[in-house]
Amino acid sequence: CALLVAVTLVAALLAATIRGATPLRTAVVGRCRERTAGASPDYCEDAWNAFAAAFVGKDPCNVPPESYDRLMEAAFQKRPCNTTLFWSKTKSLAHAFTEKKRCLLTLEDTLLGYMLDGLTWCGQNGSNGIFTECPCWSCCPDNPVRSFWIRASAAFAAGACGDAYAFMNGSISSPFSSESIFASTEVKNFNYSALNSLTIVLVTRDSSTDACDGASMKSLQRALDPALKYSCRNVPQARVESCISQPDVTCSNCW
Ligand code: APR
Repeated sequence: CALLVAVTLVAALLAATIRGATPLRTAVVGRCRERTAGASPDYCEDAWNAFAAAFVGKDPCNVPPESYDRLMEAAFQKRPCNTTLFWSKTKSLAHAFTEKKRCLLTLEDTLLGYMLDGLTWCGQNGSNGIFTECPCWSCCPDNPVRSFWIRASAAFAAGACGDAYAFMNGSISSPFSSESIFASTEVKNFNYSALNSLTIVLVTRDSSTDACDGASMKSLQRALDPALKYSCRNVPQARVESCISQPDVTCSNCW
């Protein structure tokens, strides 16, 4: 009887592996279905196939951002104007904010960002496998995870229209760091014919600091089209947190 159970288990595992039902696939397709109830049942399968095709069988240091072009076509969703929230070194605050205030959306609130937030994946040359022990973020530039976030961030930024916002960290010396995806990818992909304004919410721990006037924010201003309406507010973190906890206060009244 024990032998029968063992054989059945091995057979089930093999069948699942052949169908590609890895834990990563289960997580990604599951998250996709959560967000696309009512869409064709094939929608998330197609998105998964486009995703896997970007990196399976490839050297995990040789997956450039363009590898995800097909995935972008399969699953990138347009969003309304005036809803974009960028963030840099403020991930948890930005996500806590959009979880309660539905007037703004981060990339991770969109379908693609939601499907892959917090996950790790890579393939290997000459293998059909999907792995989760992968090169670190900056170990090699063209790794599958980093390239995905660069590609998705470029599309997210290009899709921003109307008034956009960014939560940045006013408690560090360079809130606008050239290494960040916000500086190196998002700002460079703005569609200035669609974007009206960019409001920086510079979140500070110490309410007396005026980081908006600092050299780092000046360099952000220089990187933007001069015709874009730019404003920067020093906002104490406690004020943002208090706003998050008050359901009746709308986004723009939080700063
Ligand atoms: N190691 C591991 N992960 C990293 C690293 C690193 N050295 N650098 C960045 N990341 C990943 C992490 O997942 C981290 O939470 O990128 C995320 C954001 O890093 P930040 O420096 O805080 O912000 P930034 O690089 O500006 O990216 C955020 O890009 O994802 C888009 O729309 C999103 O506006 C947002 C921006």
